[in-house]
Amino acid sequence: MNPATRIVQTDYDADRYSRREFIKRVIASGAVASASMYVFGGLSGCSATRDARTAVAGGVERLISLNVNGQVRRVDVLPQETLATTLRYKLGLTGTKLSCDRAECGACTVLIDGVTHYSCSTLTHSVRARKVLTIEGLSGPNGELHPVQQAFVEELAPQCGFCTPGQVMAAVALLEANPNPTREEARHALSGNLCRCGAYDNYLNAVMRAARARAVLSANPPGVG
Ligand code: FES
Ligand code: FES
Repeated sequence: MNPATRIVQTDYDADRYSRREFIKRVIASGAVASASMYVFGGLSGCSATRDARTAVAGGVERLISLNVNGQVRRVDVLPQETLATTLRYKLGLTGTKLSCDRAECGACTVLIDGVTHYSCSTLTHSVRARKVLTIEGLSGPNGELHPVQQAFVEELAPQCGFCTPGQVMAAVALLEANPNPTREEARHALSGNLCRCGAYDNYLNAVMRAARARAVLSANPPGVG
């Protein structure tokens, strides 16, 4: 490629993939670092060999219905399978990240009946008849961002974005339970979500922004006045 073309191409890429655009994609669907499973931890329990070995184990019904993001999904689940594995590798909901895979980092946080859970340490069979919400289920019917996601974008909160879906889910749960938290309460609510990039203050700024936006919205509901 001649140098002039390369410069134009680089400018085009830089414009197309601005930091704000990158952050929007991360926050909307966790669509980032999908290769990170190879860095932070591999897929356990999903190889064909392991499936074949465990298909007869346990005597537990395997084809079950799960309520995920408001939809009932039929899925074949091994007796010892974790919710993170089911979401990511059976249902294609890769916004939920897997990192430590042992309830330490919060990257895999989802809501079950409105309460935060580490999906890496939750057996899928235990959430039958319960409502699971992942980062993909937050946006509105026309793809509009959830107010918490919008606040995270406006604060340019993430750095690499890997922990962001978990941080967003923790913030959503907080504001549902406590719409007007103090900064200290927000810090406590997100304390189970580690960030290797150290973007904690950004995330707290975003939570407080979302709380303010929510307060403004409830004081001036659309179509009133
Ligand atoms: S991947 Fe679940 S807590 Fe770290
Ligand atoms: S933004 Fe990189 S790990 Fe949190």
